[in-house]
Amino acid sequence: MANRKLFIKTYGCQMNVYDSERMAEAMGAEGYTLTDRADDADMILLNTCHIREKAAEKVYSELGRMRVLKDERPDLKIGVTGCVAQAEGAEILRRQKAVDLVVGPQSYHRLPEMVRAVENGETALDTDFPEEDKFEHLPKTRAKSAPTAFLTVQEGCDKFCAFCVVPYTRGAEMSRPVERILREARDLVERGAREITLLGQNVNGYHGQGAGGEWGLGRLIRALADIDGLARIRYTTSHPNDMDDDLIAAHAEVDKLMPYLHLPVQSGSDRILKAMNRKHTAEAYLRLIERMRAARPDLLLSSDFIVGFPGESEADFAATLALVEEVGFGMAYSFKYSPRPGTPAYEKPQVDDAEADERLQRLQALLATQQRAAQEAMVGRELDVLFEKPGRLAGQLTGKSGYLHAVHAQAPDLAPGALARVRITGSERNSLSGELIA
Ligand code: SAH
Ligand code: SF4
Ligand code: F3S
Repeated sequence: MANRKLFIKTYGCQMNVYDSERMAEAMGAEGYTLTDRADDADMILLNTCHIREKAAEKVYSELGRMRVLKDERPDLKIGVTGCVAQAEGAEILRRQKAVDLVVGPQSYHRLPEMVRAVENGETALDTDFPEEDKFEHLPKTRAKSAPTAFLTVQEGCDKFCAFCVVPYTRGAEMSRPVERILREARDLVERGAREITLLGQNVNGYHGQGAGGEWGLGRLIRALADIDGLARIRYTTSHPNDMDDDLIAAHAEVDKLMPYLHLPVQSGSDRILKAMNRKHTAEAYLRLIERMRAARPDLLLSSDFIVGFPGESEADFAATLALVEEVGFGMAYSFKYSPRPGTPAYEKPQVDDAEADERLQRLQALLATQQRAAQEAMVGRELDVLFEKPGRLAGQLTGKSGYLHAVHAQAPDLAPGALARVRITGSERNSLSGELIA
């Protein structure tokens, strides 16, 4: 039936953001248009994240609120997608009766069919890891038109870090073929994208089929850089063990590859890194950072950290602080370890909760100092800014520098999508201010 409204709420990582766009496109073919209001929707999809316990619990409290909407409007359909859907499957249907549909990340191409069943009053559940490649069965062209775009090139993970649910929720590593990625990138650029961020749970482990055999991420980036109209390339998230020579060289050689790298290390203690099954030492990470900086001296580095992993002593934590001091991160995300059922670390004796909280605070204080310093070091510099949207004040636009800092400037004659030279004049709490250079 035509003219139905779809509301999607997205949790978790950028891959979920990308997936939500693809689901909206698939549902578009079924006559659904996006709305940004839940109370206005015929169908609500919660695209969920399972990475930490809190993230997963949020889904059930949100479903409780959605249920109230459904009590008022029994025709409303509610679906759960993403990593909680994959991990909990039928349990969601049991725990929250208002849910009509549960679909895991590898089956999104089956969504239209499932929605038809739901419209006929059935419930639908699909948490398969199907043989076919979902990307081949999603709409061929993208609906998206914005200056920045995400493009998933790799999915899943075979690394099995001892704390992490991703290998179970996203399945085995797979890389999309080169030609499909290039086609999607050209399509996005035709629709106005000037910056593309390549996505994957282990994006630098990319090894897709291309001309002449398997391509790594470095080669893919070089091919993307040949697309006219595409000004910037980024990728996330990467694993230290998959940073190969060609990709490091690409940071030196490809101007369109932005000087920002998210390279999670998780801990600075070799004992903990081993227990986490990260398969590298703190020293190996530091040497890799040296090589990255030799290739691109102004590289701004970002990382993820977990504190309070089972067995972490004060000395282990001190090693994490020491690594942070040595690297100097421009950006970082840090989390208290969250035990996830089904992962190897779940059974291990836990660090005292108050102790873990206290360590997290100390780490975050240090990271915040480094982050502020990196942002303030931009003041006085001239940077290219890709403007994405209007700013808070009249005549203002806001966008990102190559280092991924938010920058706003008076630019009454420019429109979103413009790439302009800006002199950075101030550093505020979460953004930089600047002036256009004539
Ligand atoms: N593939 C990426 C990270 C994916 S998950 C990598 O290997 O780095 C994003 C981040 O969530 C991880 O880097 C980790 O810091 C954090 N995380 C994952 N599982 C967690 C858990 N059980 N408790 C706390 N943080 C966790
Ligand atoms: Fe999770 Fe480790 Fe895979 Fe990253 S590399 S997604 S942290 S298992
Ligand atoms: Fe969360 Fe799944 Fe991404 S668990 S972080 S949404 S891969």
